[in-house]
Parts: sequence; C-alpha cells; structure tokens
Amino acid sequence: MPNKMPNKMPNQTTDKLIIFDTTLRDGEQSPGAAMTREMKVRIARQLEKLGVDVIEAGFAAASPGDFEAVKAVAETVKNSTVCSLARAGENDVRRAGEAIKPAKSGRIHTFIATSPIHMQHKLRMSEDQVVERAVSAVKWALEYTDDVEFSAEDAVRSEMDFLIRVFDAVIRAGAKTLNVPDTVGYSIPAAWGERIRELIERVPNSDKVVWSTHCHNDLGLAVANSLAAVMNGARQVECTINGLGERAGNASLEEVVMAVRTRRDIFNLDTRIDTTQIVPTSKLVSSITGYPVQPNKAIVGANAFAHESGIHQDGVLKHRETYEIMRAEDVGWNANKLTLGKLSGRNALRQRFAALNIEFDSEEAFNAAFQRFKELADRKHEIFDEDLQSLVSDEAVAQVSEYYRLVAMGAHSETGVLPVARVIISIEGTEHQADAQGGGPVDATFQAIEKVAHSGTELQLYSVNNITSGTDAQGEVTVRLAKGGRIVNGQGADTDIVVASAKAYLNALNKLHSKQERAHPQL
Ligand code: KIV
Ligand code: ZN
Repeated sequence: MPNKMPNKMPNQTTDKLIIFDTTLRDGEQSPGAAMTREMKVRIARQLEKLGVDVIEAGFAAASPGDFEAVKAVAETVKNSTVCSLARAGENDVRRAGEAIKPAKSGRIHTFIATSPIHMQHKLRMSEDQVVERAVSAVKWALEYTDDVEFSAEDAVRSEMDFLIRVFDAVIRAGAKTLNVPDTVGYSIPAAWGERIRELIERVPNSDKVVWSTHCHNDLGLAVANSLAAVMNGARQVECTINGLGERAGNASLEEVVMAVRTRRDIFNLDTRIDTTQIVPTSKLVSSITGYPVQPNKAIVGANAFAHESGIHQDGVLKHRETYEIMRAEDVGWNANKLTLGKLSGRNALRQRFAALNIEFDSEEAFNAAFQRFKELADRKHEIFDEDLQSLVSDEAVAQVSEYYRLVAMGAHSETGVLPVARVIISIEGTEHQADAQGGGPVDATFQAIEKVAHSGTELQLYSVNNITSGTDAQGEVTVRLAKGGRIVNGQGADTDIVVASAKAYLNALNKLHSKQERAHPQL
C-alpha cells in the first residue's frame, strides 16, 4: 500500500508510534482518583499487558507514598519503561531518579513552564533562568538514566522563538524525548499540527530526538490535537485510559491507538498495543478510580458497538462493515465470558485470578478473596471477570484504612412512606448504631452513617453502574466527598445497591480519615 501520510516529516525515520501512558500520574490528578501503591501496581501490570511503551507511574517527589508507588511499579514492570515525573528542581529530579532505580528500563520526565503567563505569575522566573533550570534538570536526570524526557509546560501559549531556544538547549544537554504539551487544552488541530511541524523544522538536531505531544481535553480536542501532532512528526503520544486526567482529562489512549490502527492508510504507523486488552484495561481503571465510562464513549463505552436503529442492525447482519469500522472483539469486547459459579473451587478461582494478572501477597489474602467470592456466588449466579476485578478492588479499597467498618445495615422503602435505614458501624472496634429517614433508601443510609460519623463532608457525586449486565449484576457505586480542600472517591460493589452505596460512603470516609496528603505536580 502506498504511503498516503500527507505530512510525514523527512527527519522521522521510524514507523513506530510510542504510547506513553500517564493514567497513573496525570490521570491520578482527577478529583478523588488518588490511588494506593497496590492499586497502581495492579494498573501498571495491566498497562504492561496492554503493551504501552512507557508507564508514567507518578510524581516521586510529591510525597513518600508517591515515591513508594513509583518504586513499586519500577520493581514490578519488566516490559515497559517506567517513568517518574519531576519538576525541574534538584530534589525532584533526584527523588525521581531514586524511585525508578529498580526499573529494567527507567525514564525521568522533567518539566518547567515556558509560557510568559506561567513564567511571570507562577514561577516568577526570567527566560534565562528557565533555560538554565531546564538544562540543569536534564543534567541531574542523566546521572540516573540515559532516558530523559523534557516537557515545556504550557507550550501551547509559549512564544515560538523561546520554545525553540529551550528545546535546543535541552537537546544539547542530553534530553532524548521532547514533549510539547497543550497543558490547558487550548489548541485546535490545525494550529497544533503546525506548531509541532515548525518546532521539528526549526529546532537544531530535531532529528536526534523523539517528539512527543501531551494534550488536554478542555475543548474536547485532545485526541484530534494529538493525531494532528502525529501527522506532523510527533512519534510519542502521551495519553490516559478512558481519557482520565486533570479537568476535562487527557487524550484517551484507546481513541488514539484505534484511530492510528483503523486509519493506517493515513498514518502508516504501528504501536505495540495489544488492542484486545483495551476494554479490560478500561474496566480496571474505571473500577479502581471510581470514574465510570459514559455509555457513548468511543471504543470503551457500553454502546460503542451497539446498533439501535433497525436499518443499522439489518446492515450489520448482512455485512458487518456496512456500519462498523472496527470489530468489537479486536478491542476486547466479548471477552466478558462466564467464568465461575457457586460450585467453583479454590483452584479454578486461583487460575482465573492469574489469567487476570491479579496476584496476592499471601495465602491469607487469597483466602480472604476466596471467602468474598463464595459470598458473592451465593447471591449472584454467574461470576464474570469484571466481578472478580471488583472483588479485588473492593478488597484493596477496604485496605486504605478501616477506621469505619460496616457491620450490618438495613433499609426499607415503600410507596407513600418515608424510607428508613439502620446502620451498625464499628469505629476502632466499638459498634455504633443509628437510624435515619431520607428521601430514598440511599439517602436514609447516608444520613444514618452521618449520625455516627459526624464527618462534616460535602457529597459531591453519587453514581451507580452495573458491573455486568442483568438485574442480579453487582452495582458499583462511587461516592465523592470533599472536606477542607481534599476530595476523595469512595467505591463499593454489591448485588444490593443500597449496601454498595453504604460501602462506598464508608470507603470515602476512610480515605479522608487516612489523610494521605498529595502535592500537585503542576503547582
Ligand atoms: O499538562 C502538562 O503540561 C503536564 C506536564 C507535566 C507534562 O502534565
Ligand atoms: Zn498534563
């Protein structure tokens, strides 16, 4: 097939597109999406299975917890490069360097803002100071690894001549990947493509480095802008699963990958991604972060391959390509096979967990999961992979801190009568009981919990999703609570959505109680 790629840059010899996943770093910056080390390791394992080239595991200098999480991912992952973000300061870069030390292949990603508005109001630094700091950061990073990436934060609003000066300086200092971020999601595809093209044309030795793009979705254009960058010579895209990320999110990995693959006639590029792992990865990230996927989301939304109109259904039955440009099974739909049931034993469960890449630290942890599986199988006939994922997520979220523990609860609703709920909650071993009325059984349950907890939190979000289909499916509930500037997402899953709601509420309270402080890398 002829190379129809219109804007292929002459100095880009590779036909490979590097997929840099930042779900565990920029994705984690979504309100309430902070993850524990164990959660990050689980997602990292799945990202490795998905075949991403680079996993940005976190921002090591943000807190001891972040450092440990990056280190744990570096110790675990073997087939993807593990990266830590670092502001362009000596302490940040050295923390990143220490955290990625155990990695088979490790990268430091250092950044500093280059736009007038950021330099003047946020950094209070002159252009000369920014260049000097960028160069120093790259040099400190090179003491730990050859694989150093530099980002010019807010490149979208930076002066072109200054950007060229900074990029020229960091290439000479030894950076191997130059990332051009649209930090505020301001660009549109034609302008973004043009910016990348101009940089590659004007920065000296631009053919010695990989050009990367990192787009935010404030105008809903993150994927379109990323693809425009690729058409103009970028060979790394920074993206997240389900488009998770700051504000409106980042470019969504699944959309970028499937666009490049489906329109290979235009891009003429390959990725290392095993696309059949896309849907399982999306589900895992959604269940761990508590961010549901909207049904009409491209590729991973529940309706992405559902044909509603009779004309479409008829067409697809006669010839699939009439209305489908991708096959559902190619992105991992239909992998949701019946796996286990009430009579399944420990070995069957162990094997299924292994197939799902879920490992247990100890036999006790496996036994606890087996116990939960049996309890679930008593209430739910068929247990799917998604149920097992959520069972383990439930276990992991419960481990955040067990300050509040649900001992028992009941809720009653009847037409014409105000719903009531009773909860028994254990706080550090002492049981407390409370009754409350509410607008519905969930509201009554939350009111009853609050009679015990007196948390003073604000409920910002409540959402319920079916983990699998059917009325006996588990409901997965997300509760977002805010207090004193901290925001957390709590999750709970159960075949009874009122119980799932209580679990989610208590999980959020436990996260707030654990007081894990997190710094924001872009401040
Ligand atoms: O959006 C951004 O600019 C970033 C950088 C740290 C790469 O996330
Ligand atoms: Zn970002």
